[in-house]
Amino acid sequence: MRAVDLIRTKRDGNPLGRDEIEAFVAGATDGSWPDYQLSALLMAIVLRGMSDEETAWLTEAMAHSGARFDLRRLPGLKVDKHSTGGVGDKTSLILAPLAAACGVVVPMMSGRGLGHTGGTLDKLEAIPGFRVDLSASEIVDALGEVGCVIVGQTRDIAPADRRLYRLRDVTATVESIPLITASIMSKKLAEGIDALVLDVKVGRGAFMKSVRDAEQLAHAMVRAGQLAGVRTEALLTRMDAPLGRGIGNAVEVIESIETLRGQGPSDLTVLSVLLAARMVLIGGRAETMEDAERQVREALASGAGLARFRQMVVRQGGDPAVVDDPARFPLAEGREYVRAPRAGYVTGLEAMMIGQAAAALGAGRATAEDRIDHGVGIRVLSTLGSLVRAGEPVLELIHRDGRGVKDASSLALQAIELGGAPPAPQPLVVGEIV
Ligand code: URA
Repeated sequence: MRAVDLIRTKRDGNPLGRDEIEAFVAGATDGSWPDYQLSALLMAIVLRGMSDEETAWLTEAMAHSGARFDLRRLPGLKVDKHSTGGVGDKTSLILAPLAAACGVVVPMMSGRGLGHTGGTLDKLEAIPGFRVDLSASEIVDALGEVGCVIVGQTRDIAPADRRLYRLRDVTATVESIPLITASIMSKKLAEGIDALVLDVKVGRGAFMKSVRDAEQLAHAMVRAGQLAGVRTEALLTRMDAPLGRGIGNAVEVIESIETLRGQGPSDLTVLSVLLAARMVLIGGRAETMEDAERQVREALASGAGLARFRQMVVRQGGDPAVVDDPARFPLAEGREYVRAPRAGYVTGLEAMMIGQAAAALGAGRATAEDRIDHGVGIRVLSTLGSLVRAGEPVLELIHRDGRGVKDASSLALQAIELGGAPPAPQPLVVGEIV
């Protein structure tokens, strides 16, 4: 099968067969297809699209391009959650232990932050000693003992995606629903999970800006999961303002611990409980959503979720002293306040700019090679709907020796929107695909 023929087929708007898609993925994995032919086919896919069937074949071929976890020897259904990325989104840290406390096995493989969005692995590494690079056998042992792990993808998971994603990044071929679907879902399928809950973010701080685009992506991912035999469902949730009050790494872990103690901000608590309940339901531990939510709320109220989180930290080499006393997190010492330029109600806190401001302080990366500072970040002092006086602090910048403060202050100031009346309440969940 010649690469040029497959490129021509897709260029002319015709569907590819399963064997052709498998040949493309094999060529990406074993190096037999050069970058220029892979890139040409990627561009043809961006321009011509793929059917649900082609997308599912691509997803499965990529999932099979490397190692696949075999978690069958652990009893019960294995359920993961994936978010398409947001600002201040630390729900994974909260819901993995909550779902585990309700009897679901959660083998969560997460990523690192890039650009304005944070990454779960970076956040967890703010815990002194925490290891995200467990081996396959360590993952299985930890799952058997704790019920949840949060680790990085091992290098042998979906190697085809690694090569294709690098090419997509430099050939303007990231923005394609079939390619995004196959990239995300192939890595999830290789985890050996039985079920998956997707949190597809929509809004100004999200990858998908419109509900229509987010719905299309969610549909494609749910369909690809289901065709591969993994129970998959998706919630569409708003990402216009940061979730919760903390943005950064240690700052977000502290807020997650507070939430697991029942003292978290309401938007973060509501979304974490909802997603955890979905995992409990899809993982076969509850008959109805009401029952699942009741179990999760009980795990939160009783401290069972916090206890699981502490156990997970210990099992992954982290220092539990910071869980017991979050004041021990080594936050950077510098503080700068971004103040309201005039009096009014806070009607918007632009997530994208606040994410960029946190990255400017050193909490995030511009390129995959950048090092991050776990101790810097931003705290929201005046949340949406607050009435502020001129000069009142809205955002607190936590910085190290002034690094990035000038840029961060200017971005953060632009992120603050003030109005004469409180904003109309927006629903957090704007859709679901089950
Ligand atoms: N995240 C991924 O892993 N892949 C994409 O294509 C986009 C976001």
